[in-house]
Amino acid sequence: MSQAPLVLVTGGAGFIGSHTVDALLARGCRVLVIDDLSTGYLKNLARWQNDPRLTFEKADITVDLAGRLKEITASIGPLDRIIHFAAQTAVPLSVDDPAEDIRINLGGTAQVLEYARRNNVAKVVFASSSAVYDDDAPVPVSEDSTARPASPYGISKLSAEVYLDYYMRYFGVKFTALRFMNVYGPRQDPKSHYSGVISIFMDRAVANAPITIFDDGEQTRDFVYVTDVAQAVVGACLDGLADGDIINIGTGTEVTINLIARTILDLAGSKSVISHAPARAGDIRRSVTTMDKAVRLLKFDPKVDLRQGLEQTLAWVRSEAIVAAGR
Ligand code: UD1
Repeated sequence: MSQAPLVLVTGGAGFIGSHTVDALLARGCRVLVIDDLSTGYLKNLARWQNDPRLTFEKADITVDLAGRLKEITASIGPLDRIIHFAAQTAVPLSVDDPAEDIRINLGGTAQVLEYARRNNVAKVVFASSSAVYDDDAPVPVSEDSTARPASPYGISKLSAEVYLDYYMRYFGVKFTALRFMNVYGPRQDPKSHYSGVISIFMDRAVANAPITIFDDGEQTRDFVYVTDVAQAVVGACLDGLADGDIINIGTGTEVTINLIARTILDLAGSKSVISHAPARAGDIRRSVTTMDKAVRLLKFDPKVDLRQGLEQTLAWVRSEAIVAAGR
């Protein structure tokens, strides 16, 4: 019997990365995670710590990735596929320091692709972003809409897609690029300035602490649950789907931030007070994706609806609060 495929997940200790590792191991793969733990946590992989199919390496992918991988693959064998999440994910930081964003996000992707080319890796799945679209894109946004980013972060994600296409056409490295809408769920860190709105609201709600809604709260987003996203990533990686394609990953459902806040406070039975603050610079007003391409090419079928996803996330936030309190 041939050995189970070995998949490298860069950024595999992070929020979406660690759920993807769960899904890969559930499919019987062997997994190598490379993560510098700058925003990821080893505890996200704790359930697998005694599983010999998972190898973890603490490393920065922008520093001699090929050298590191040469050492590791000498003992665990050649990589079959790569899923590339490792990135700096803060849009405002990219505005303040575009060169640093390019170094990590585009430079890191170049190292991954060059490794893939030189080592016959069959496919690279790339975590792109709906940040490649701006407010002028028609709603719902389809992959055919003009991608004209409103931030250096969006520009580096879009540029990375161009590199992926080049490596496939010239060197035969297959790819799928997935443009994520607003991903939420357990393991999303609420403590940073750049945290997702659902993780921030939940963290505040369980503590009965005040919640701030920027603008009038009628701005919309397309919130997609993290395990559904992981299924799309793993499908693109393992199932021979969507080679050479760029696909939006969301739910097709547009939800206001006001509704998110009300639902979370209601589910949590929270006494948090809501206040409003001026709109954040650069925030887009409406965001929701069409689903046709994801359904057609990835057979994407999100299973977790918003209420269920919020309930599951709340249960996790509460369990983390108990751990943090040492109870
Ligand atoms: C998200 C992603 C970003 C991605 C972009 C693509 C996260 C954390 N960020 O940004 O990586 O590139 O989509 O479009 O997932 N809000 C409040 N109060 C708060 C926090 C946020 O009202 O305390 C509002 C914001 O003003 C915004 C909405 O909630 O209107 C969503 O904000 P956020 O979760 O930060 O995501 P995006 O800005 O959409």
